[in-house]
Amino acid sequence: MIPLTINGTTHDVDVEPDTPLLFVLRDTLGMTGTKYGCGIAQCGACTVLVDGEAMRSCQFPVDAVGTSQITTIEAIEEDAVGARVVEAWVAVEAPQCGYCQSGQVMAATALLKSVPQPSDEDIADAMTNLCRCGTYNMIADAIRQAAG
Ligand code: FES
Ligand code: FES
Repeated sequence: MIPLTINGTTHDVDVEPDTPLLFVLRDTLGMTGTKYGCGIAQCGACTVLVDGEAMRSCQFPVDAVGTSQITTIEAIEEDAVGARVVEAWVAVEAPQCGYCQSGQVMAATALLKSVPQPSDEDIADAMTNLCRCGTYNMIADAIRQAAG
């Protein structure tokens, strides 16, 4: 059994130690808000927070989590910054198909936690998640709005 603290709750999961965290979240724990996109740490659809930092969970083996606190999209509004990000996302109507958006929200929350007033360059540097629908401008608007 591997203990994982996710959204403040500890789960003991019976999986191989090299199982990607993404698969444990989705398949073992049924938390399907975190998406599978590329599986090779390129697209960002699987982004979660690990101790507040954005991490691509498709390439993060579950035995590397240790005592770190995992936050997923299911609980992001329990975080004050995350709640502001979601509110701004809704206000600017950022999503189109929506598939990439949970990962985008997680990446944006991590950015604003470390840089509360990001410049356009900070946003461009941090927001490397891909969006097939091309919502990048709306995402940047939402981040500026959430920054206040
Ligand atoms: S699914 Fe993890 S980065 Fe694409
Ligand atoms: S909103 Fe469709 S992939 Fe981003």
